[in-house]
Amino acid sequence: MELDVDFVRAQYAAFQNPETAGWAFFENAGGSYVPRQVFDRLHHFFQFTKVQPYGLFPASIAAGEAMEEGYRCMAELLNADEDELTVGPSTSMNLYVLAQAIRPTLAPGDEIIVTNQDHEANIGCWERLGEFGASIKEWRIDPLTGELSVDALKNLVSERTRLICFTLCSNIVGTINDVQTISRIAHDVNALAIADGVSFAPHQIADVNTLGVDLYLFSTYKTFGTHLGVMWGKKKVLANLKCQGHYFNCDKPHYRFNPAGPLHAEIGALAGIGEYYDAIYENQFDEHQPNRHERAGSVFRLFGDYESRLANILLESVQDLPGVRIVGQLKAAPGRRAATISLISENRRPSEVVTKLLDSKLAVRNGHFYAVRCLEALGIEDPEEGVIRISLVHYNTEDEVHRLAEGLKDVLA
Ligand SMILES: Cc1ncc(COP(=O)(O)O)c(C=O)c1O
Repeated sequence: MELDVDFVRAQYAAFQNPETAGWAFFENAGGSYVPRQVFDRLHHFFQFTKVQPYGLFPASIAAGEAMEEGYRCMAELLNADEDELTVGPSTSMNLYVLAQAIRPTLAPGDEIIVTNQDHEANIGCWERLGEFGASIKEWRIDPLTGELSVDALKNLVSERTRLICFTLCSNIVGTINDVQTISRIAHDVNALAIADGVSFAPHQIADVNTLGVDLYLFSTYKTFGTHLGVMWGKKKVLANLKCQGHYFNCDKPHYRFNPAGPLHAEIGALAGIGEYYDAIYENQFDEHQPNRHERAGSVFRLFGDYESRLANILLESVQDLPGVRIVGQLKAAPGRRAATISLISENRRPSEVVTKLLDSKLAVRNGHFYAVRCLEALGIEDPEEGVIRISLVHYNTEDEVHRLAEGLKDVLA
């Protein structure tokens, strides 16, 4: 079965509006467009219920109910228990707070493994714990491929390892890391596996019960929703961490690790993400499926096949361009390589390339995308110029990809 991309695009005002419709948008890893299901909920919340929620009068009751629907929807999508979720302002903030919550559980000399493939959000907050006696070890990428080897991790792990903090999919390299094996290595030494899923979640729906990790984080503004970060943690793991909320809120699961407090309207709109996936499910499948995670799983399998096909068109077309290096694998496949493609050009400055692409209404960006260490390890001298990053999601079209391939050929050949 093929994804009905016309139906998908009909859900987005951005593809109907003359100002944006003509642009082929390839900066999805920075933040995705929002479908009407999410926007309608946000709009409704702001218009009618934007008051302090959980009170006794209608607007406040409705606000609280919308938020509960948002939490429930996220839990159902991930196959998680609602009490295991924290919904904070961003993944960077959730990781920062998580590091503070873990800090009192560490003894001097305990080891934390971070990678240099990650976005800084999943490195700096752990490195700071070095100030309190933790020992930080870096799991390094292969400078040619940008990939992490599990054997290298095995050599880093010791009986003192308490945390392995890694990414499920780097926002630069695009390879899906072997989460099961990494988690097993962590658990063999009683360490926690903490996974950044921000660049993974737009392409694959996680089942937190089978993923293997102890904590999983992603950002809903990259998964077609409002600007929030969702953190899932195993109940028994979260129970051992120090509350970071107000002392009287420490027994409230959504508040324990959210000192910022919940963003009411944005959380209230989260159920729109589930409704969006459901609209696609209903358009594609006849059979009734009562379980939201299963419905989303079917939809994401369509997304994965479709995105891989588009990514492979692009990967093949840029492979032979002179002086162009593709970071990561040369072939996309669901579960192996996401449609996040970074290019390094020997002959052109990345900023020059993306500026040229604008003439053809091709929206691409260059830079380090907060993965400065990854770029440095890849041998990129000026991280501000960085890589040319092209990131596709399921609403991109084959025509857009051909336009981009032509545009890149014009600038780089
Ligand atoms: C892989 C990855 N991890 C973490 C983050 C940080 O997420 P947030 O912007 O929600 O803090 C990003 C943001 O771009 C990212 O791409």
